[in-house]
Amino acid sequence: MKNDKFFKKAGSYDKLDRRVLLARAAASKIKEQITLNKDMHLIDFGSGTGLLLEQFANDVKKITAIDISPSMNAVLKSKNLPCELNILEIDITKTKPEIKADGIISSMTTHHIKDIQKLFKTFYKMLKPNGFLAIADLDKEDGSFHESDTGVEHFGFEREKFVKLAQNAGFKNCKIQDLYTIKKPYGKYDVFLLSAVR
Ligand SMILES: C[S@@+](CC[C@H](N)C(=O)[O-])C[C@H]1O[C@@H](n2cnc3c(N)ncnc32)[C@H](O)[C@@H]1O
Repeated sequence: MKNDKFFKKAGSYDKLDRRVLLARAAASKIKEQITLNKDMHLIDFGSGTGLLLEQFANDVKKITAIDISPSMNAVLKSKNLPCELNILEIDITKTKPEIKADGIISSMTTHHIKDIQKLFKTFYKMLKPNGFLAIADLDKEDGSFHESDTGVEHFGFEREKFVKLAQNAGFKNCKIQDLYTIKKPYGKYDVFLLSAVR
């Protein structure tokens, strides 16, 4: 499990309240903006144990969970969700799934990806016309957020630059807003939500 950067965290991942609360906050803000229905197919990128996607399981037909980590995927597999679930255990930077979904959701994952421009182009291809993108991630931080090395490529993002990358990939109606503040004993870390349409 040397290559599984979340191997040590997976078993107790859902036990931290702040992770559950962030996923709930993200889902509720996304649902304020998007009308979901039972014909829809969503992709959760960097789905982990499924904290975000499980908030949508009652609202859509199918969710494709994309995550490189076998241990995080094993936790997700053990959950019984009221929708179709397909887990793709892939590295998105190496494998581009041939999927056309109605929406892509993602929380606390893009900072693990080096080339965000390329990632956004991949997302664009994985969406149907008018499909939506909703990404929650950290605002720029001083590097103190992560206590262990889980493959961090960015210490958060500057919102304007993040939006520009989405626009450059072809996304329209890009909007970024405050979502949540993660409180740790040694600091506070703001999280934004980017929403956009293909
Ligand atoms: C911090 S966790 C977030 C999990 C979940 N979205 C949540 O909010 O609870 C980041 C997840 O992204 C996954 N990940 C990181 N890089 C990836 C890549 N290149 N391709 C697919 N998944 C990746 C990790 O395995 C991990 O499960």
